[in-house]
Amino acid sequence: MTGRLAAAALALAAAAAHAQETPAARSLAASCASCHGTDGHSATKEVASLAGLQKDYIVAQMKAFRDGARPATIMHQLAKGYSDAQIEQLADYFSRRPR
Ligand code: HEC
Repeated sequence: MTGRLAAAALALAAAAAHAQETPAARSLAASCASCHGTDGHSATKEVASLAGLQKDYIVAQMKAFRDGARPATIMHQLAKGYSDAQIEQLADYFSRRPR
């Protein structure tokens, strides 16, 4: 009985660890693909690849774009469309992509 409970707790913990890796996170990330490439692998030098960047870095950049703290040509407008929770999801998703 305790063994089964422990197994259930482990399964829950594992699910929580991957909670961000949802279809919702993938669809959010898909709207970045037109410029940053599929799964964050940019095809051009002009736009940075997002794959494998630090999660904290991506979150900080998105918020800096949104607040106008980081000057941008387009990202300041795009970043305004995302909530803190969505930015977390996006950053988590891209940080987990292999470079
Ligand atoms: C229309 C093209 C376009 C789209 C769509 C786009 N980006 Fe960007 N992104 C850029 C450009 C261009 C830059 C460089 C900053 C600037 O000039 O706006 C940039 C910069 C960034 C940076 C900073 C990278 C670094 O190395 O510092 C991050 C993080 C980022 N974008 C995240 C995203 C995310 C997340 C999405 C999807 C929600 C997204 N971008 C969608 C064009 C785009």
